[in-house]
Amino acid sequence: MTILKYLLVLLPFCSQLCSTPKIEIRVGSDSDIPRIQEAFCILDQLGIDYELRILSAHRTPHEMMAKAQTLEQEGFSVCIGSAGGSAHLPGMTASETPLPVIALPVKTSYLDGLDSLLSMIQMPPGIPNGTVGINDSKSAALAAAQIAYLGDTQVMQKICTLRNIPYKEHTPQSRVAVVGSKQKNLGVEFEKAMELFVAFNVEAIEYDIDEEGFLDQAIESGCSALYFVCDVQNEGLVQCQHLAKSTFLPFVVIPYFENKTSLSPTFFLSNFVE
Ligand code: RP5
Repeated sequence: MTILKYLLVLLPFCSQLCSTPKIEIRVGSDSDIPRIQEAFCILDQLGIDYELRILSAHRTPHEMMAKAQTLEQEGFSVCIGSAGGSAHLPGMTASETPLPVIALPVKTSYLDGLDSLLSMIQMPPGIPNGTVGINDSKSAALAAAQIAYLGDTQVMQKICTLRNIPYKEHTPQSRVAVVGSKQKNLGVEFEKAMELFVAFNVEAIEYDIDEEGFLDQAIESGCSALYFVCDVQNEGLVQCQHLAKSTFLPFVVIPYFENKTSLSPTFFLSNFVE
């Protein structure tokens, strides 16, 4: 009887220790579900546990916020928030959880989903979400999986096979790669990013985009993510596409435009790099 009592007390802790990372997918309405089917397919193919919840930022705001506050204690590692129209869902979720939130705008019958995208992508600095393209549920699922399972060789190998990129042995550390062009005057942006990472207790290693083999070096040194200062007026967008296509590391882009950048990507990164 006493042993049984101890087992019952220990059971919740054991299940937490043994559990694998879970992903929450929250949508604003059941009408969003058919539009994001590819996310479910990808996570099923990868054998990743996820839970789908209908939680509206407008119709059930209190329940939506309460469920955002308990995401971490419920064992979730990442949240995908998907909605259409005035799509506050991922942003409001991000304001209530330290977990990384991937924002997935859906295409609605008005404005082709541009309204969904714009209501997600320009969050104020410090309340970040990582926004993917309109209806790009495939990228949302892959990004969430790459963040949650970065240290899991089997899942990462499956992701690399799906994405048709090579997998390299990798032991993620509390470390990020800050990438930019040393030839361009991005020093201030680098410094700002570096200072913030220090404040978050995250080690940041600086890499030059023009230096051959820097990606392999970042993987070898255990970087858990790439933070790319993208010079959008020059060749930054091409470099950005190339990088995103060739790495399995979670990839966060900070657009650099005439000395104007947002610090949100830095905050987003700090949410998933311990
Ligand atoms: C949003 O309004 C939902 O995320 C959905 O995309 C859109 C339309 O919702 P329904 O009127 O179909 O429920 O809140």
